[in-house]
Amino acid sequence: MKPQLARYLKTRGAQVERTLESLLRRRAEQPETIRKAMSYSLFAGGKRLRPVLAMAAAECCGSKASSALKTAAALEMIHTYSLIHDDLPAMDDDDLRRGKPTNHKVFGEAIAVLAGDGLLTYAFETAADNAAEEKLPAKSALDLVRVIAKGAGTQGMVGGQVADLEAENWPARCARRLGPALEYIHLHKTGALITAGIEAGAIVAQATPAQRKALRAYGRAVGLAFQITDDILDVVGDKKKLGKKGSDRQNHKLTYASLYGVSAARKKARALVAQAHKHLAIFGPQAAILRDLADYAIERDK
Ligand code: IPE
Ligand code: IPE
Ligand code: MG
Ligand code: MG
Ligand code: MG
Repeated sequence: MKPQLARYLKTRGAQVERTLESLLRRRAEQPETIRKAMSYSLFAGGKRLRPVLAMAAAECCGSKASSALKTAAALEMIHTYSLIHDDLPAMDDDDLRRGKPTNHKVFGEAIAVLAGDGLLTYAFETAADNAAEEKLPAKSALDLVRVIAKGAGTQGMVGGQVADLEAENWPARCARRLGPALEYIHLHKTGALITAGIEAGAIVAQATPAQRKALRAYGRAVGLAFQITDDILDVVGDKKKLGKKGSDRQNHKLTYASLYGVSAARKKARALVAQAHKHLAIFGPQAAILRDLADYAIERDK
């Protein structure tokens, strides 16, 4: 990883961490169990890529990263909720996440479902607070909430997760027809929230329509490349580094690794990152960190 990106991830990651901590601390009035369950997964040590992308997008559009901090925190809450639910026995049935027993293993399924619900709803409160504190014009504030909702919901992440479940046990004889279905799954279950986060950062920065369009195209390419890499790591990654066991094979998942093989999947991910770089052309040197983040999405080992 380039030293400038390592520095950026460290400083921005620490800002996100502090913001999340203060947001969860303020919730002392909640029943202790739900606050504990939400914090358990939130502070288990994720890469914080979605919040960092949102802040980098805000900066790329001329704003201070800190102006998008609460939006960044909101994205990490939604992402963490999606992981808690993704690991449930009814979904991927995983027992290790971010190097720790999954939420339902510690708190039980009912509280794990509610911890996800709690993080999802708190995310919207937090994004709305960001808009209010930054005194965004009403249209931008509504846009901010709408873009995040769409990325997280049935037209985004939730839709992709449904398609992911429905594609389990795909018949090998249909392999040639499954490419578009697989692309849909990945663009939605993972790409949509990543793209929404990047656009949300741009909205906080009051970006122009052309900037937002370019960043959406960048997000689409990076999000897809990121999930292809997740598929690859599920097969060849170091489980200890990943902090998860990798259950795609066991669950007969439709993935880029299972449909095309690891080396073709790598090639596809590299092509997408090259595309992502091109979409940043309008920003010039301002987009240096976004370029590095695109590279990191596929070069990472965890
Ligand atoms: C894992 O996301 C789930 C996917 C959508 C691929 P990350 O790889 O970003 O997981 P954390 O947040 O670092 O734990
Ligand atoms: C999950 O995809 C995408 C989400 C929306 C959480 P995966 O099921 O491949 O994610 P991991 O591998 O469990 O992190
Ligand atoms: Mg899954
Ligand atoms: Mg999973
Ligand atoms: Mg995976």
